[in-house]
Amino acid sequence: MRDLREIIHPRSVAVVGASKTPGKIGYAVLENIISSGFPGEIYPINPKEEEIMGKRCYPTVKDVGKPVDVAVLCVPAQACLSVAEDCGKAGVHHLVVITAGFKETGKEGRELENQLVSIVRQYDMRMVGPNCLGVMDTSTPINATFSKNFPLKGHIAFISQSGALCVAILDWSLKRGLGFSQFISMGNKGDLNEADYIEMAADDPETKVIALYLEDIADGPRFIESARKASLNKPIVVLKVGVSASGAKAASSHTGALAGSDTAYDAALAHAGVLRASTMTELFDMAVAFTNQPIPGGKRVAIVTNSGGPGVVATDAVELNGLEMAHFSAETESVLRDKLPAMANIHNPVDVIGDAHYDRYEMALDTVLKDPGVDGVSVLLAPTAVLEVGRVAEVIVDMGRKYPDKPLVAAFTGGAAVEEAVKYLAKHGVPTYDFPEPAVATLGGMVRYADLRKSLADGEPWIFPDVDKNKVENTFQRVRADGRDLLLGPEASEVAEAYGIPAAPSRLAKTQEEARKFARELGYPVVMKIASPDILHKTDVGGVRVALKSDDEVAKAFDEILANSRKAEPKARIYGVEIQKMMPSGHEIIIGMTKDPTFGPLIAFGSGGILVNLLKDAAFRLARGLTRAEVDSMIKETKAYTILKGFRGAPPDDLEAVAQAIGRTAQLVRDFDQIVEMDINPVFAYPKGLSALDVKIRIA
Ligand code: ACO
Repeated sequence: MRDLREIIHPRSVAVVGASKTPGKIGYAVLENIISSGFPGEIYPINPKEEEIMGKRCYPTVKDVGKPVDVAVLCVPAQACLSVAEDCGKAGVHHLVVITAGFKETGKEGRELENQLVSIVRQYDMRMVGPNCLGVMDTSTPINATFSKNFPLKGHIAFISQSGALCVAILDWSLKRGLGFSQFISMGNKGDLNEADYIEMAADDPETKVIALYLEDIADGPRFIESARKASLNKPIVVLKVGVSASGAKAASSHTGALAGSDTAYDAALAHAGVLRASTMTELFDMAVAFTNQPIPGGKRVAIVTNSGGPGVVATDAVELNGLEMAHFSAETESVLRDKLPAMANIHNPVDVIGDAHYDRYEMALDTVLKDPGVDGVSVLLAPTAVLEVGRVAEVIVDMGRKYPDKPLVAAFTGGAAVEEAVKYLAKHGVPTYDFPEPAVATLGGMVRYADLRKSLADGEPWIFPDVDKNKVENTFQRVRADGRDLLLGPEASEVAEAYGIPAAPSRLAKTQEEARKFARELGYPVVMKIASPDILHKTDVGGVRVALKSDDEVAKAFDEILANSRKAEPKARIYGVEIQKMMPSGHEIIIGMTKDPTFGPLIAFGSGGILVNLLKDAAFRLARGLTRAEVDSMIKETKAYTILKGFRGAPPDDLEAVAQAIGRTAQLVRDFDQIVEMDINPVFAYPKGLSALDVKIRIA
């Protein structure tokens, strides 16, 4: 096992393809490593040269004759295999392959990359890239890239799937005064991927927050495992771009159709405790806030402003971001009343009004920050002619020091008049914005992280010991032996029952006599449905009858259902007619599963019945590792919850039974990977218990 820390803290680096020619990548990389002040050994490798930039040059890595922790490859793609082989033989620990022309170029490139990866594995090396910008670390320091710039020292680890973006962000960060601990360009992720880099950053004492730009995730389960572990201590913020195509494909089940193309990523990132940013600006706003500000203890926000309008804008943003306006204590209000002019607003948002000097900000901030009912503060400022804007900035920084447990963000609206103050705030770690909304949004992100971290801490998966795995296994074997992938209704109900999900009792009748007998046994009234793996939409072919109350009605329905179905689908395999006890009506919900190629099964819960795809009221979570808290939160996310908890005087439904059915479905699909699709729709929820009326299961 290689120590991945060596990648950014190597003792020695070889640059293969180091060049004397300015403008070439091999020149830039060597020059960057030297000029970054890298304190270790540097070995240029180039068979044509004796010396480059004052350093002795070797024909191959093997000729160095001393240990090499990292070799940076800047040779053409065709040369990379033999160079990698040389490195392996020379005992190099890690490769950083800048060279392009691999997987990203198509079939041949992919083949070349596979060969490169197998050499890396053969010699027990690890590899960054190929097709990357390289890596940088500001504490080592080392700049093993061909970027023009080197970042300022700071505490953000930036891990990017785009090398070009690294270059752009770096340039922008210098202007903004933003510092980084590490800068990693992942390239094609031939070997190391985001999970490895998250582990590296989690381990790095200089890194306080991990920011990622991702286009895809190479290994879903490993990503979740690494991120869950890391985000207990360090916030991870991700900008995930590119819509994954997987979700849209699996639309033959209701659940599949309900899932948007990005649903799996949303569910997975939340389960991993990762904050998802929707823009580049938001990614870095969050990263800056987490680097400098404390994690809030709650979601109650105070706003201090010198003008009404921005105060209202911020108040709206508080609600939009899932935060609450703090209610001040009587003491806080009394102090504000005493010390502010009569026209000022002493309630939240506190308006120190337009003629305020800096000392009113000072008094108001001190007072609200002291209030135990306030978890974080957003300071808004409009630069009036009477206000000492710079002094306000100083006051904010001082207050941050005085109340180190409460985050402070600022929105200094204006241009030239606030420029110096904004720089001062940035320099002292106060996230500052041009307008109130992003300031509040940042507080919202911080609160969301605090919540995610809490849910990670009590994150044991919800397990039910009282399930009958053998019974399910036997049912699946029977179905497979019969050459089917779709379970018949009674078979699917049996599977649900084996996992403790109550299903409406049902039997499969092959003859009219059986139909009457089963109906009597189940008790009237009954529902009858055609049993065929080839007829998905039973109602459409006249294959369903409800509320049958006598033997005669059942016998007649049996013949009609068979005749209708044969007529509509002459080729369908027909196994008989399902006789199901007709259940009293309840509130209709859906519980289902759809599979994501990266993250595995996703569990859905929402409003069910025939309008399911019209209502599109569903929440999704990963089945893997699903916790009790996640089940409760997914229920609460839906409109169905409003009805279940007792709408307009109706008694509440059995939410515990609903939660259990979701948790048990998740366990079923975790235990049986061969389930590729599952819908339970509708489920009738009752004040006591529930009943699954229609269970659909397709196996691989
Ligand atoms: N061992 C040592 N040195 C070698 C070897 C070898 N086996 N083979 C060649 N060299 C030397 C060459 O002689 C040359 O040195 P010189 O300048 O003294 O002549 C040097 O290595 C480079 O080889 P060239 O053939 O000149 O290759 P060139 O520099 O033109 O290109 C490069 C190499 C840059 C790696 C190119 O193949 C490439 O992949 N470019 C794209 C890189 C890229 O975009 N990566 C993704 C970045 S992320 C982003 O998008 C920003």
